Amino acid sequence: MPLKGSLFMGPERMVFGRGVAGDTGIYVKQLGGKKVFLVTDEIIAKLESFSVIENSLKEHGIEYYLYTDSDVNPTDVQIDQGCRIYKEEKCDVIIGVGGGSSLDTAKSIGIIARNPGSIRDNFVPNYVTNPYDTPNKNAIPPSIMIPTTSGTGSDVGCWTVVTNTAENYKGFCGGWMCMPKVALLDAEMTVSMPPRLTASTGYDALIHALEAYYHLYKTPLTDMYALSAIKRIAKYLGKAVANGKDMEAREQMLLGATEAGLAMNTGCALIHSSGLQLTSKFGLSHGETLAIMAGPVIRFNIIACAERMIDVAVAMGEVVDGLSVFEAADKAAVAMQRFALSVGLPVSLNKELHNQAKIPEMAKIAFQNDNTYGNPRIPTREELEKLYLEAYQD
Ligand SMILES: [Fe+2]
Repeated sequence: MPLKGSLFMGPERMVFGRGVAGDTGIYVKQLGGKKVFLVTDEIIAKLESFSVIENSLKEHGIEYYLYTDSDVNPTDVQIDQGCRIYKEEKCDVIIGVGGGSSLDTAKSIGIIARNPGSIRDNFVPNYVTNPYDTPNKNAIPPSIMIPTTSGTGSDVGCWTVVTNTAENYKGFCGGWMCMPKVALLDAEMTVSMPPRLTASTGYDALIHALEAYYHLYKTPLTDMYALSAIKRIAKYLGKAVANGKDMEAREQMLLGATEAGLAMNTGCALIHSSGLQLTSKFGLSHGETLAIMAGPVIRFNIIACAERMIDVAVAMGEVVDGLSVFEAADKAAVAMQRFALSVGLPVSLNKELHNQAKIPEMAKIAFQNDNTYGNPRIPTREELEKLYLEAYQD
């Protein structure tokens, strides 16, 4: 029977502050863990900041298995293999450390540790509309997420993105039962991010907040976090890119990304679904694709939610006094593009590098993507093709 109302979710505990990753062992003990399955990637595993987590586990006498087979785009093969080891090693708590990929790998392994089948049997068809309607009904093992970027929001969200290698597409797994128990939000873990990654992941968080704010399934709670995230990220991302050691900027960005992640309870929308195709066809980073599609999609959406676009423009610091409603709403697109350029992200495609012959196929796949159906204005395939064409003109 369908449930009433809108669902807002977050981890049971979110601990925010410098140095909190050093308390990891304490949280494992509180969760009753005896052996941890520790997921990260090979680069992060070598960082000094990562040894803080390992030392905390050792200090508290907690055994762990270190799993570093986590790719930028986690695959079903890696998840199934990780789960086999989780079971062989008799682990009982999962910790994910890293960007969205490592955290998604950790949570996805948790899904099949407690549900039958491979991760391929646990892809969800309609994650935007119903986080209850998932094939995987048992909660993941107790888990702790420690982000090292300020962007994806996976540490405070219940979804994961996994590549289905048999059918060559990226799908969603998760649902209400995939929410982490604890998120340790420690800005010191984000200091090693180079400027380009800081810009790209920070802009991703900004677009999570934007798309949550105009999403079809927005709620008063998601609105609150979304608008606050936009203001915070607009104020601090540039500072974090300019000086990665600016701890105030790093902390504020982590807070902004957390707010944006909580707002993303709505799901994402058309900037994400159209941008995703630019990654698979042209290898652009997630943040770059969002910066490229933001302008055309915002302008496409204005007739559906002009007042909300004005709120976004004002939150980004634009002056809208004396402008007509549509002129003021257009400032949201102007601000998002100007902001992207200011942190070194591109806002347009290039005919030489990005073959326009791929547009019909990209439009076809984006049209089928679930995120498209959370957008306040649902495009036709022809309109999607036009949006891609517009991305060449800015
Ligand atoms: Fe994103």
